[in-house]
Amino acid sequence: YTITVNPAAQGATIDDAMYGVFFEDINWAADGGLYAELVRNRSFEFQAADNRTYTGLTAWTPVAAASGAGTATTVGDAERLNERNRTYLQLGLTNPAGGAYGVTNAGYNSGFALRKGDTYDFSIWARTDAAAGTKLAVSLHLADGTQLATPIRINVKNNTWTRYAGRLRATTTSDAGRLSVLAEGTGTVRLDEVSLFPKTYKNRPNGLRVDLAEKIAALRPGFVRFPGGCLVNTGSHYAYDEASNFPRARSYQWKDTVGPVETRATNANFWGYNQTYGLGYFEYFQFSEDIGAAPLPVVPAMVTGCGQNRATNDPALLQRHIQDTLDLIEFANGPVTSTWGKLRAQMGHPKPFGLTMVGVGNEENLPEEYWAAFTQFHAAIKAKYPNITVISNSGPDDTGVTFDNLWAKNKAFGTEMVDEHYYNSPSWFLKNNARYDAYDRTGPEVFLGEYASQDAKFFNSLSEAAYMTGLERNADVVKMASYAPLLANIDNVQWRPDMIWFDNDESWGSTSYQMQKLFMNNVGDRVIPSKATGGSILQPQPITGRVGLSTWATAARYDDLQVTGTDGTVLFSDDFSDGNADGWSTLSNRGTWAVQDGAYVQTDAAATNTMVAAATNITATDYDITLKA
Ligand code: AHR
Repeated sequence: YTITVNPAAQGATIDDAMYGVFFEDINWAADGGLYAELVRNRSFEFQAADNRTYTGLTAWTPVAAASGAGTATTVGDAERLNERNRTYLQLGLTNPAGGAYGVTNAGYNSGFALRKGDTYDFSIWARTDAAAGTKLAVSLHLADGTQLATPIRINVKNNTWTRYAGRLRATTTSDAGRLSVLAEGTGTVRLDEVSLFPKTYKNRPNGLRVDLAEKIAALRPGFVRFPGGCLVNTGSHYAYDEASNFPRARSYQWKDTVGPVETRATNANFWGYNQTYGLGYFEYFQFSEDIGAAPLPVVPAMVTGCGQNRATNDPALLQRHIQDTLDLIEFANGPVTSTWGKLRAQMGHPKPFGLTMVGVGNEENLPEEYWAAFTQFHAAIKAKYPNITVISNSGPDDTGVTFDNLWAKNKAFGTEMVDEHYYNSPSWFLKNNARYDAYDRTGPEVFLGEYASQDAKFFNSLSEAAYMTGLERNADVVKMASYAPLLANIDNVQWRPDMIWFDNDESWGSTSYQMQKLFMNNVGDRVIPSKATGGSILQPQPITGRVGLSTWATAARYDDLQVTGTDGTVLFSDDFSDGNADGWSTLSNRGTWAVQDGAYVQTDAAATNTMVAAATNITATDYDITLKA
């Protein structure tokens, strides 16, 4: 075919910062991921409310050396480290002379990743009632006891909570290390906030894992949207110590995540695990600055989404969240003499972070309630900070079929920018390349905050690339875009596909990572209008084949589906374009189907097998199933 280009014509200008990243603490993206801390459950705060399998000793095992003896219990009483770090480890020591008793931490994935010659910063909060103090031996070793570093010793002096620190140097490279803390003598020793850090990205204290931070930096993102997603607006909107005391599964509230790490109250993560908030708002801002990206925080709008669908009918609570958002802007940008600017300075960054935009809410599907809240956030932010862009959202749309929940309201209101999300099949991305050609040029602008072609094959990445040409062609409307999700720990996955994968010592990008990198490192200045004529453009090709019963369930994740007899008779077909799997109703025993991740997925293979047999009276292997991707 022929492509006609008109270099003289003026197409849209593309902003250098158009492409960014969306960081959500999903798939252990923070603890056990980007946050470099190596000790899991470092403050003994894990509990069943986070995950039914958790206890205060999750990841820890009591251990004795040289006939050492004692008890190891997690305790939450008035002797605690502070009101936000409520549980500590109590060792009741009954060691004979020369014995030692304590605990071993298993770390993440296969253990602690150590590299020969590298140093690791250890710290611990401790107190003891032994009059002469208590000696702690800290070591890194394999499960069989083989030492991986020269052990260090720490003398806990008295019965006042004190932070002790030391440095270990690895003598062997391993991805299966264990950290042990063993105490000598007798008496009661209390331990908390046990920490081990490797070298971090740009040597930031309490910083980020180098390989993951470098992979993100290599994308050269124009912005970082954080901290989620569903993580932001789900759960209780009460603060840690508000109204219902210490609610678990609180929505993501930035004030929980700043200040000294031992005072950050941990939380139950929407994705089913404990989040320490060691990676918190200061660290997000610092990282954004370190990689030259604009920070884009998202605050909860008090309307609970992601399937929970609740609005919090408490005007005082809404006002508190609005005030928190104003305080967040002060934390990012305020002078060091302001309340929150002062905290930023105390945390090590007197200079403002230069925040220019804030997202309010995520995928809100209670339009009336969200709108009532959004407009109040908007008014308060604009009154105090008129130059901050307040980003609204379009409502949820995982199917990519409609966006009518909130768009009309946003248009009528004159919202500056609207956040859209969709996860879809490759065919959807190919078919919808022209989606934004028809968008109103008078506003609002679009922030495509989350998108991905489902599945993780090269074809998915190609369909994303094709789609991104449509985003760029419409760069006058689509101002920002970020693939999602960003990170996934291979041993704890709630969502796929993901862009960057990792375990405790390795990381690798998906084909979509490479595609994003290609686009993000080569952002054009402006669109040159072009036209393709003749030939054929890339279209999804039908995948035709004879599939057996066992492969049916896997194969059935497609948009358009057709079952054809070997004689060519079409038994049934359905393109699902109306959002319903109604083609199936032509057959009895059609099984159960559900919308999952934007595709129709068979949820009971056995029933569908029955359907095929019932429809044909012969075995399914006599039939061709055509899946039009
Ligand atoms: O990216 C994963 C999830 O997808 C996000 O948390 C949510 O916003 C969307 O539904």
